[in-house]
Amino acid sequence: MMHLSLEERLALLSDDPSLMEPEQFCKRADALDKLDIWLAEPDAQPQWLEDATRLRGTLEAVNVALYNSIREAVQSGTTPAALLQQILKLAGEGAIENPTPGLSFDPLDDLLSGILQMEEPKASPAPLEPEMVFYQPTPARHLLRLIVSGTIQPDDVFIDVGSGLGHVPLLVTMLTGARSIGVELEPVYVAMAQQCARNLHLHKATFVQADARTAYLSQGTFFYLYTPFTGSLLADVLERIHTQAMNRQIKIATLGPCTAILAEQPWLAALTSPPENGRITVFESIQLN
Ligand SMILES: C[S@@+](CC[C@H](N)C(=O)[O-])C[C@H]1O[C@@H](n2cnc3c(N)ncnc32)[C@H](O)[C@@H]1O
Repeated sequence: MMHLSLEERLALLSDDPSLMEPEQFCKRADALDKLDIWLAEPDAQPQWLEDATRLRGTLEAVNVALYNSIREAVQSGTTPAALLQQILKLAGEGAIENPTPGLSFDPLDDLLSGILQMEEPKASPAPLEPEMVFYQPTPARHLLRLIVSGTIQPDDVFIDVGSGLGHVPLLVTMLTGARSIGVELEPVYVAMAQQCARNLHLHKATFVQADARTAYLSQGTFFYLYTPFTGSLLADVLERIHTQAMNRQIKIATLGPCTAILAEQPWLAALTSPPENGRITVFESIQLN
């Protein structure tokens, strides 16, 4: 592409009718990325800028229509399996089976936040205590890989410990049918997650404002920790979850630095060996005699 002028590059995109097909989400994401880069070029002419900006708006409008059609499917009770198939098709081959390790984001995050229509919180979150980790969402590719793996069963009760804006419980319920509970300290995040669940009619996804050190965890069969805290706080909450594991077998999925701490627990066995770095690892509890 280096040898093509801006006009020629834009013409290539403008003349590609497949970009308007809703299911070509990845291709459109790639085109939108290119447009963003080209639009920043200093020598672009006013007419070219106008045409490129118009094309960008047209492609974004196709995405918005796609997000809205999936939202309508969720609201009208389309089965989790059918929704998952649709999203996997849009994500493109390989994106889920072998996701890029690490905590960076990609177009799949745009797709899922477009479906959830999560807004940025208007109020600033309250300052956190030492050892508590600020909000950062799980990258969508890792979460979808967990969902596709089938380790979350429809009869599980999934608890996201430190659920932030709630996209993990919302997507788990939407795409597996399992009941999910988000436990989050920050009330602004909890209110936004509850609103999102109401808007999508996802009544099996609920959110409670609570400190994980004292929150009610007895219903959980599948816990998720994207390193919500560290140090002694993590140790305290893990001990609370361990107490639950004495009554029944549970699973715990982790992402980030807390994975190494869970891997050291004698009452947990990782389902992948060695525990994965930069992706979600699933552990299951074992009974110690
Ligand atoms: C790294 S974010 C993970 C967000 C979400 N689970 C996800 O994966 O997208 C950690 C979250 O834990 C919350 N948190 C930190 N300490 C907490 C505590 N003691 N009780 C409940 N939530 C807490 C933070 O407010 C933040 O939203």
